[in-house]
Amino acid sequence: MTSQTSSPHSFDVLVVGSGAAGLNLALELAAFARVAVITKSALKESNTYYAQGGIAAVLDERDSVESHIQDTLVAGAGLCDEDAVRFVVEHGREAIDTLAHYGVEFTRRTSASGQDEYHLTREGGHSHRRVVHAADATGRAMETTLEQRVRESANIQVFEHHNAVDLWGARGKTGAFERVTGLYALNTKTGRVSAFSAPFVVLATGGVSKVYLYTSNPDICTGDGIAMAWRAGCRVANMEFTQFHPTCLYHPRAKTFLITEAVRGEGGLLKGPDGKRFMDRFDERGELAPRDVVARAIDYEMKRLGADCMYLDIRHKGQAFIEEHFPMILEKTRAYGFDMTKEPLPVVPAAHYTCGGVMVDTHGRTDVQGLYAVGEVTYTGLHGANRMASNSLLECLVYSSAAARDIRARMADGVDAPPPPPPWDESRVTDSDEEVVISHNWEELRRFMWDYVGIVRTDKRLARAQRRIDLLQAEIFEYYGHFRITGDLLELRNLAVCADLIVRSALARKESRGLHYTLDYPDLDSSHPPAPTILAPDCTKR
Ligand code: FAD
Ligand code: SIN
Repeated sequence: MTSQTSSPHSFDVLVVGSGAAGLNLALELAAFARVAVITKSALKESNTYYAQGGIAAVLDERDSVESHIQDTLVAGAGLCDEDAVRFVVEHGREAIDTLAHYGVEFTRRTSASGQDEYHLTREGGHSHRRVVHAADATGRAMETTLEQRVRESANIQVFEHHNAVDLWGARGKTGAFERVTGLYALNTKTGRVSAFSAPFVVLATGGVSKVYLYTSNPDICTGDGIAMAWRAGCRVANMEFTQFHPTCLYHPRAKTFLITEAVRGEGGLLKGPDGKRFMDRFDERGELAPRDVVARAIDYEMKRLGADCMYLDIRHKGQAFIEEHFPMILEKTRAYGFDMTKEPLPVVPAAHYTCGGVMVDTHGRTDVQGLYAVGEVTYTGLHGANRMASNSLLECLVYSSAAARDIRARMADGVDAPPPPPPWDESRVTDSDEEVVISHNWEELRRFMWDYVGIVRTDKRLARAQRRIDLLQAEIFEYYGHFRITGDLLELRNLAVCADLIVRSALARKESRGLHYTLDYPDLDSSHPPAPTILAPDCTKR
C-alpha cells in the first residue's frame, strides 16, 4: 500500500476553485504574489463555463444604478443587505471593463445613432435591458478567456484534479480555527494527498445545487467550500434559499440542460400542454416575474394538471432571430430532437443557485483570519431571499476584485510564510471494500432533498429530511474515519453537511419569503424586521 501523502507546497495565496471568482482573483494578484489555483477537475469545469444569459451591469444611459439596486431589492423580497447591493451594482461597469481588458468578446450591436455598443438583453426582475452577454454562451466566453490569461501567467501555478479536503491552521479554545494557513488536497488522478501552505487562502468553490436530484449545475457543485468553512468555524447564512431555475429542458438524456431566461427576456412565452399562457394568472409581470414566482407557478401548474412539464415558445420571433440570439441552445436542443424555431420546448424547474453560504464582509473576509471566500460559495447579502438573474457573475467579479485588493494591502504590511501542515494522517485507514455505500447514499440524499426540501416545503417534510440526514451523517462519519478518502466520499461528506444546513435554516424560517415557500407558513412574517438566517458551528464537537 503506497503512502497517500506528497511533499508540501508553499505559496503566498491559495485559491480553491477556478470559476469566474477564483480566476479573476488569481489574475488580479498575479503581479504581486505567487498564487496556486487548486481545482478539483479540469481548470475550465465550473458553473461559470455553463452560464448563458450574461452579466448585469448599468451601461445604458436610460438605465441607472438606482434602478438596478431597486430591482435587486425587489427580487430579494426584503432580505437583501442594501449596502452590499449598492457596493456590487456601483462596480458593474468596472467589472465589465476588466473582462473586456482580458479579452472577453461580448455581443455588440450598432445603435440607432450608428454607434458600436454592447448588445444588452433582458431577464426576469430587471426593469431595463442591462445584461451584457456573448450570445447565449456568456460563461464559455468568460471562462476560456480567463483560463488563457491564467495559463499565460508565470506567477500562477495550476493544480487540476486536486480536490481540497479540509483547511488547516491553528485552532483556538472553541475548536474553531483562529487563523487558516493551508489546506490538504486529494489528487484524484494519483490518489495522493498534498499539503499546501500560504498566509492567505481563498475559497471560490461555488454552490451546492448538486444536493438536489435535478439541477442545471455540473457535477462539481457539491458545496465543498461551504462545508470546509463550516468545519473551520465560519458562520453561514440563508442556506434555505436555493434558487430553482424555471426553465430547464425536459428530456431524459438532457441532464436538465438550461434554457436561458433571456429567451423569455426576448419575448418567449410559457404555455401549458393546451398551448395557452398561464403566467398572467400568477403575476402581472408575466414571464418576466422574478424566478421564484415563475418556478412556483410552473410547479403549481404541473401538479394541478398532472403534467410532466410546461412549454416555452419563441417560434413567433422567427428563425433568423432565434439563430442570431440563441445559437448554442438551438444546436443543443436540436441534438435532443427539438426544433425551437418550429415547436415549443418542454421545460421543468431545477435547482440552479445557492443564495446562501459562507458569511463575508465587503472585502470577502470570513470569520476566520487568513480565510477569504468569493463567488457563489458566499453569503454577501446581495441576493436576499431570491437572486435576480445575471447578478451572480457580477457578484463573483466585484467581490473577487475586492478580496484581491485586501490581500494585496495585507501583503504590503508584511506577512510571514506559515509552517506547512503536518503530513496527512492515514495511519488508521484502509482501502474501502464497499464503494457501493457511497453511491447509494449520494442517490438517496439527492432524491429526498428533491422530494422534501424542494420548491414547496412543509415542516413535516423538512423533519423527515432531517432524520435521514442525521443517519447519513453518522454513517459517513464512521466511513470517513475508517477508509482511505476518494473524491466521491469527500463530496458526499460535504453534501451531507450542506443538506443539514439547508434543512436547519428552512426549519428556522417560520414564514414564506422569496425562494423559501412553506405550506405551514404561507405568508410573510411582518411582526418583526426581516433578518437573514445565521448558523454558527459548534467546533467543540469535532
Ligand atoms: P464556479 O464557477 O461554480 O466554480 C467553482 C470552482 O470550484 C470550480 O472550478 C470547481 O471545480 C471548484 N471546486 C469546487 N469544490 C472544490 C474542491 N473541493 N477543491 C477544489 N476545487 C473545487 N449567473 C449569472 O450571473 N448569469 C448567467 O447567465 C448565469 N447562467 C447560468 C447558467 C447555468 C447553466 C448555471 C449552472 C449557472 C448560471 N449562472 C449565471 C450562475 C453562475 O454561473 C454561477 O453562480 C457562477 O459562475 C459561480 O462562479 P464561482 O466562481 O463562484 O463558482
Ligand atoms: C439564465 O441564463 O437564465 C441564467 C441566468 C442566471 O442564472 O443568472
